[in-house]
Amino acid sequence: MDIAMIAAMGEANELGANNELLWHLPDDFAWFVKHTKGKPVVMGRKTMESLGRPLKNRLNIVLSRSVVKAEGFVGAASWDEAFLLAKNWLEEKLELAVAAESGLNAVVGDGVGNDVSGVNTSVAMVNTDENGDWIARKNEIMVIGGGEIYKQAMDFANRLYITQVNACFTDADTHFPAIGNAWKPVFVKPHGKDDKHAYSFEFQVFEK
Ligand SMILES: NC(=O)c1ccc[n+]([C@@H]2O[C@H](COP(=O)([O-])OP(=O)(O)OC[C@H]3O[C@@H](n4cnc5c(N)ncnc54)[C@H](OP(=O)(O)O)[C@@H]3O)[C@@H](O)[C@H]2O)c1
Repeated sequence: MDIAMIAAMGEANELGANNELLWHLPDDFAWFVKHTKGKPVVMGRKTMESLGRPLKNRLNIVLSRSVVKAEGFVGAASWDEAFLLAKNWLEEKLELAVAAESGLNAVVGDGVGNDVSGVNTSVAMVNTDENGDWIARKNEIMVIGGGEIYKQAMDFANRLYITQVNACFTDADTHFPAIGNAWKPVFVKPHGKDDKHAYSFEFQVFEK
């Protein structure tokens, strides 16, 4: 099972300020929905508060050392607890999907890029569809922030979905950790600035 982080950040790894995002980029939101829909998402308590309500069609797991009472969110006091909740939910969902689509050769267990022996066979830019878009994975736990949570998950995540926003945000108070050399870029797609997007940005995927 893959553990992926998904984040949008500025040129200095800025993530947010005053518990809010720093931009409004509709196509980045669509990318986020595409790659989190139908999956368990793991977030920190502050990100839950920033969202305000649970994300639809996803298991919303919240890491907190206190009891989480917000409707539509499931609390976890540790990463182990969060991953257990996520795995059980995802496995049940994938089993149901396989049963419903009997005969379909569903991608279960390996995602793309890992053979059954666990050897990573990813090659840059081969994991794309006919439109040149990154193929959505089914078998992923998605870590969706914020800064504290990304920092901790850097040690055990094996995929990063980064939206690199081409601007600096000096008022930011939360940052994404440095992406070290162990991470290899496997996908990149630029997006221009236009009347709906105040900044240009780039969708990137890294794996290790
Ligand atoms: N740009 C993006 O893609 C993006 C994505 C998400 C969030 N954000 C931004 O990031 C900011 C929030 O990030 P943040 O770093 O302040 O907070 P956060 O990471 O969302 O949440 C931190 C909280 O998570 C809980 N926690 C952390 N580690 C834990 C552990 N190992 N076990 C149990 N609980 C744990 C603690 O909650 P308790 O205090 O309740 O114990 C802690 O206070 C906001 O500005 C938000 O808008 C940006």
